[in-house]
Amino acid sequence: MGWDRLLRPLHAWIWRARARRGHKLLAFARTEADGSRHLARAAECTRDRRLRALFLRHAGDEQRHADRFTARARELLAGGSRAPWLQASLLAPGERGLDALGIADETDAQLLAFLHLSERAAASRFALYHDVLGRDPGTRAVFGDILRDEEFHMNYTQAQLRRIDPRHRRQLWRARARRLWKAYLRAATALAGILGTLMLLVQYFLVLPLFALLARRAARREPTGFWLHAPRAARDELRTQY
Ligand SMILES: [Fe+2]
Ligand SMILES: [Fe+2]
Repeated sequence: MGWDRLLRPLHAWIWRARARRGHKLLAFARTEADGSRHLARAAECTRDRRLRALFLRHAGDEQRHADRFTARARELLAGGSRAPWLQASLLAPGERGLDALGIADETDAQLLAFLHLSERAAASRFALYHDVLGRDPGTRAVFGDILRDEEFHMNYTQAQLRRIDPRHRRQLWRARARRLWKAYLRAATALAGILGTLMLLVQYFLVLPLFALLARRAARREPTGFWLHAPRAARDELRTQY
């Protein structure tokens, strides 16, 4: 993806810290394992025998990716390290998308179109990560290996979509629109989270101290003494000497 290529220096920075690499790989492993479960479900739901066999193989591949990411993450985090304060998951999300689908409600063509786009995005992302990981040959090799599978997934989903649906282009456009909508929702949620945190910080560090200051000044001006609790007539008496 051209946009990703433009952000190459940012991706290089994201992958530079060893702890962040480890924690990102763990997050990727979770996504791949989820994908594997969804594909096993898709194999259960389809009536097309060829697709069933391909989905099962695909599910096996994604589970293997999850295992490889987990194994490499363990090596990277072997010394023990805390999760970094910034994961940058929005910029380096790994392979995602299937979690947004209700597999049983999708037609085979809809599912294949969605899978094709998400596998294509994953292949492009993993090629970029492979590129920027020059200093970590171990992690680079993991991405190199997985990339070959992602390219196979990207190609078979396209070929099968063409086989089962003559209007495959239309399916792809619809899937693109759905992915765009999901991306918008993810960005809007992330922005809402950032704005919410900022509002709380402003309230905590600016508004609350200001009110505390005003309350203290007002308290200083308040008259004090036991006579404040006396009835009004008695209070007037207490104010004068006689
Ligand atoms: Fe994968
Ligand atoms: Fe994949």
